Amino acid sequence: MENQPKLLWWIFFTIPLLIISNLQNCAYGEPQVPCFFVFGDSLFDNGNNNNLSTLAKANYTPYGIDFSKGPTGRFSNGNNTADVIAKLLGFDDYIPTFNEAKATKNILRGVNYASGSAGIRNESGRLAVGDVISLDEQLQNHRIIISLITEALGNKDSAMKHLNKCIYTIDMGNNDYTMNYFLPQLYNTSRQFSAHQYATVLIQQYSQQLESLYDLGARKVAVAGLIQNGCSPNALATYGTNGSSCVEVINNAVQIFNSKLIPLVTNLNANLPGAKFTYINFYQIDAESTRAFRFTRVACCNLTSTGLCDPSTIPCPDRTEYAFYDSAHPTEARALILGRRAYRAQSVTDAFPVDISLLAQL
Ligand SMILES: *[C@@H]1O[C@H](CO)[C@@H](O)[C@H](O)[C@H]1NC(C)=O
Ligand SMILES: *[C@@H]1O[C@H](CO)[C@@H](O)[C@H](O)[C@H]1NC(C)=O
Ligand SMILES: *[C@@H]1O[C@H](CO)[C@@H](O)[C@H](O)[C@H]1NC(C)=O
Ligand SMILES: *[C@@H]1O[C@H](CO)[C@@H](O)[C@H](O)[C@H]1NC(C)=O
Ligand SMILES: *[C@@H]1O[C@H](CO)[C@@H](O)[C@H](O)[C@H]1NC(C)=O
Ligand SMILES: *[C@@H]1O[C@H](CO)[C@@H](O)[C@H](O)[C@H]1NC(C)=O
Repeated sequence: MENQPKLLWWIFFTIPLLIISNLQNCAYGEPQVPCFFVFGDSLFDNGNNNNLSTLAKANYTPYGIDFSKGPTGRFSNGNNTADVIAKLLGFDDYIPTFNEAKATKNILRGVNYASGSAGIRNESGRLAVGDVISLDEQLQNHRIIISLITEALGNKDSAMKHLNKCIYTIDMGNNDYTMNYFLPQLYNTSRQFSAHQYATVLIQQYSQQLESLYDLGARKVAVAGLIQNGCSPNALATYGTNGSSCVEVINNAVQIFNSKLIPLVTNLNANLPGAKFTYINFYQIDAESTRAFRFTRVACCNLTSTGLCDPSTIPCPDRTEYAFYDSAHPTEARALILGRRAYRAQSVTDAFPVDISLLAQL
């Protein structure tokens, strides 16, 4: 209860900021925060899987067909959602992958650790597609980068001060459903747990992982809710729609998880001094963004049996008409909508309590 005033204070404090932020124009030059760290799955991966032994790779054409550097490992024809958020935060250059950052010591502006097929649980994705950098391992990679930052800035204190100012985005949990719970031929979780129990155990583990991130100096953390995994061409092809436009059993399960993320964020903010966690309602943003496209339930590229783009084929000519590039991942056109609404909420329910543009100012 003693935390209540602090929380209220924070909410009231953010309202004037909301007004200021909406009056401001996009400033060019310096980014709004000195650094941006990205944790997540294939929605955010920018090439971390390229050197892994896995089927979950996108470092070949037609991926990157609209990207200046060609195929890089992004699961998209162009920029992905993390790239869009980085750009909106004012970063001119792309955030490097973990391997690039480590090799070039380009570490102070932030690092992208995201890995396609990764989950909160270590086993998610592994039995389905191969090696993966799970969230625990992404946090381990972050510790390596922090030691390099400490070295670069001279001491732990300066490193912590720097890390406190960064924005962190984290998109995790989708593969704990699509590449675990809903693959009963490979995983036992759907026999061990009801959808409610599973969401609870995932949230417990996620809570500890988010606390570890806080212990590593993160204060401004945007936690992405799960997308409508039941509406992907992959889910529709695998499960059939049974008369509805999406696979409801999947959407219902991920919504249970999402409903527990909001209280998780609230609890972290109440219990961890200086913490500013915020929830991004990707489920709603995903659902609404899809409607902007002519083709909403079919992939733009021709698919392999794993649901990724077939390397030998030419994708659809107009990528801006498709919501999905392959059987599970958004086109750049849709990533632009996802990133923009995460950065600046379009509806009051897009983010709780603040969007990323406000998080940058706190
Ligand atoms: C990744 O693989 C590429 C090509 O095989 C190689 O050049 C590069 O050194 C590898 N990077 C790491 C970090 O292993
Ligand atoms: C992709 O991102 C880069 C770097 O932020 C940016 O320069 C480029 O305009 C983006 N492309 C599109 C189509 O948004
Ligand atoms: C995750 O699982 C792999 C394979 O079973 C194992 O080698 C690795 O140590 C595990 N990582 C963590 C962080 O538990
Ligand atoms: C699933 O359960 C069976 C039987 O209990 C066990 O032998 C197997 O190792 C389990 N598989 C996984 C991936 O946990
Ligand atoms: C299909 O819908 C019917 C009626 O709503 C329901 O009883 C059945 O369980 C559904 N099947 C699947 C596979 O979702
Ligand atoms: C991709 O699939 C479409 C039909 O879905 C077909 O018309 C086209 O020829 C295929 N492209 C290639 C390069 O195989």
